[in-house]
Amino acid sequence: MNSNRAVKRIGLLTSGGDAPGMNAAIRAVVRACMYYKIEAVGIYRGYDGLIANDMKTLDSRSVASIIHRGGTILKSARSMEFKTPEGRIKAAENCRMAGIDALVIIGGDGTFRGGLVFQQEHGIPVVGLPGTIDNDLNGTDFTIGYDTAVNTAAHAIDKIRDTASSHNRLFFIEVMGRDSGQIAMRASIAAGAEATMIPERPMNVDELIHILEKGAGRKKSSSLVVVAEGGKPGHSIDLAKEVTDRFEYYDTKVTILGHLLRGGSPTVSDRVLASRLGVVAVEYLLKGISGGMIGIVNNRINFTPFAEATGNVSNFDDEMLRIASILSV
Ligand code: F6P
Repeated sequence: MNSNRAVKRIGLLTSGGDAPGMNAAIRAVVRACMYYKIEAVGIYRGYDGLIANDMKTLDSRSVASIIHRGGTILKSARSMEFKTPEGRIKAAENCRMAGIDALVIIGGDGTFRGGLVFQQEHGIPVVGLPGTIDNDLNGTDFTIGYDTAVNTAAHAIDKIRDTASSHNRLFFIEVMGRDSGQIAMRASIAAGAEATMIPERPMNVDELIHILEKGAGRKKSSSLVVVAEGGKPGHSIDLAKEVTDRFEYYDTKVTILGHLLRGGSPTVSDRVLASRLGVVAVEYLLKGISGGMIGIVNNRINFTPFAEATGNVSNFDDEMLRIASILSV
């Protein structure tokens, strides 16, 4: 935690992959600023907009009627230029010219790594809110957008189940999650899938075929395998082929849910989480606390320095895998 001078004007941005609930977080930050009588400046297109000076003062009305909307009204980007010292110098100059004394950044690990270097190099206090569907950060039980993405995935898998059982088919359903099986694991339990392939606990094809054979032996007429994208979008197609070559019991199909999981109206959980964290972000900056992410642990607000939030993420719960395997008999 770092102490800092009085904050009078806060800049906020969304960066990285968008996530449902980002708008609710933007609304909360802006309205908390209004409540504490400080100014809020919306920065468009993440760090790219900070470098290009693409920003606008926001007030309570600017964020009216957005709490239920997916995407981000501030737009988002993965900035290459911000990774360079020159890009960050431009960004810092623009902050000074706009009178921005502190930043709230809403995003995932890449966003936070950028925020950490920026604060260290230029002394501008930064607070982060976890905004990513992946739920892959230390220091928060849930990220903003995760619950919505899991709900979208589970409902899609429910629909696939209908057609899978009508045709006695095996479906591989690939869900997003770069390096993370969090969406796959939870959606798999919620939709009652037979198996889950996740990067945290890799399963080889022999083990998967064994599970499917056991199911077929118990007269399962169809099966669902949820596959985490794990940084290799589309790899479920190869996996399905490998399985089909050796296990012919079912007709096999693949569905890749992909960016479908990033859109849609946020769930109540995501809206409430974003609202709580957005207000606290402003309060922390006003108290002189910065350099980290505000999350939620056991339903309590939790502050984690950026380096810890992003480094070596270890939030996978083996209990989920155990429950899934018991229930898929
Ligand atoms: O980090 C969120 C995420 O949706 C990941 O699950 C996925 O791997 C990645 O972003 C996709 O990024 P893009 O939209 O740039 O293809």
